[in-house]
Amino acid sequence: MNGSMLCVDPLPWFDCDMDTRACNEHDLVALRNAWPTADDVHGAHYTEQREGTATYLVAWQDEEPLGSGLIQWHGPIGMNARAAFPDSVEVNHLQVRPELRGRGVGTVLLKAAEQLAENRGYKLIAVGVALDNPDATRLYRRLGYTPTGVIDVCAYDWTDDDGQQHHEIETDQLLIKRLSP
Ligand SMILES: CC(C)(COP(=O)(O)OP(=O)(O)OC[C@H]1O[C@@H](n2cnc3c(N)ncnc32)[C@H](O)[C@@H]1OP(=O)(O)O)[C@@H](O)C(=O)NCCC(=O)NCCS
Repeated sequence: MNGSMLCVDPLPWFDCDMDTRACNEHDLVALRNAWPTADDVHGAHYTEQREGTATYLVAWQDEEPLGSGLIQWHGPIGMNARAAFPDSVEVNHLQVRPELRGRGVGTVLLKAAEQLAENRGYKLIAVGVALDNPDATRLYRRLGYTPTGVIDVCAYDWTDDDGQQHHEIETDQLLIKRLSP
């Protein structure tokens, strides 16, 4: 799967050369240049992919990265979510570059993740969404993800573009979608 190209219904806002694929070594260099992050998020996600636990999906238009998401093949990260849906895959760290949001990139990434999960024989795909993120929740609901009532609280640290450290505590609800048989 590593490095393969996957085109999923590009939406009309973008040229038809938009594609979504698992990150490869060349992509990682382009990502770090075009979309730098203080904590080398791309490198961390790519390491998970190399270890075989995840696929780091990135949407591109030519050499420009538009957004990305991580497919966790070993199930949801949250303890309660994993206990409730151990046979699902989870998409997390879904993000689209701020200036490109609302143009269908997130939808394309999710559909690509669903297709890859189906190809591997999974029947359920999950996303965890913060209770205070109604915009993302609306997108997931529209794409067929159903609230489960399963809640996990997670803590994480991140560094913003000014080098400022943040400690976040997030309460996520798991949403689930059944994939085609
Ligand atoms: C959530 C996110 C990945 C969606 O990607 P996207 O490319 O903007 O989504 P699409 O264009 O395919 O779909 C648009 C829908 O996304 C949702 N959305 C969430 N945040 C949005 C934003 N900042 N701008 C526009 N749409 C947003 C809305 O539901 C919107 O639909 P609407 O027309 O009903 O308002 C993206 O907005 C993002 O990176 N947000 C910040 C990080 C985040 O919240 N990630 C999700 C973690 S669970």
